[in-house]
Amino acid sequence: MDFKLPVLAPSILAADFLKLGEQVQICADSGIEWIHCDIMDGHFVPNISYGPAIVEAVGTVSDELFLDVHLMIENPDQYIEAFSDAGADLISVHFEACPHLHRTIQHIRDYGCMTGVAINPSTPVSQLEEILSEVDLVLVMSVNPGFGGQSFIESAFNKVEKLRSIKEQNNFSYLIEVDGGVGTKNAAKLVQSGTDVLVAGSSVFKNGNIAENITRILSEAER
Ligand code: DX5
Ligand code: ZN
Repeated sequence: MDFKLPVLAPSILAADFLKLGEQVQICADSGIEWIHCDIMDGHFVPNISYGPAIVEAVGTVSDELFLDVHLMIENPDQYIEAFSDAGADLISVHFEACPHLHRTIQHIRDYGCMTGVAINPSTPVSQLEEILSEVDLVLVMSVNPGFGGQSFIESAFNKVEKLRSIKEQNNFSYLIEVDGGVGTKNAAKLVQSGTDVLVAGSSVFKNGNIAENITRILSEAER
């Protein structure tokens, strides 16, 4: 699939859950194509968010939305079918949660979804050496997973640059996604470093006007 890069993927974890459909519609009306869905199980991360039913509901806002599902859960293999059935277009699993990552990535692909691997701030890019040829996306966590509204961890820039040079040297096709603490202050530098997909929760949904926030972040990203 070809996407207009850079992509801004609002993370609905930061949305007002009492107005979720309305706020996703505002995103869609503002030209947003990707919605980032953070799934948390209270084990892999110290928080519980939501499940396949919410992902499915978000997908009903518009057929055009690309559902980017980020599994921050233990044993993700057990839930790939459920999120695929719920309409996930891409499923990312954490390197740190998958002892048989190659098989898990195949499993996601078998269910017709694009594949992603996520790494926490303390996990080096080198750990992904044997899987980079297999995935459609690499998700670089720029906060410690589990909560929105945290401060951006600057080492993410370096990881993005490493992933970009590996991609260029090997002619890989994975997208590079950065997730956590992303906003107007770092969007331009992230894209210049090689980021293709910016995940933003608080900077889209908190403090004021969603449509304006989206416009501001995108104008920085496209600078
Ligand atoms: C954190 C999630 C992120 C988070 C982003 O575990 O993976 O997607 O919701 O939210 P902000 O943009 O507020 O850091
Ligand atoms: Zn996320």
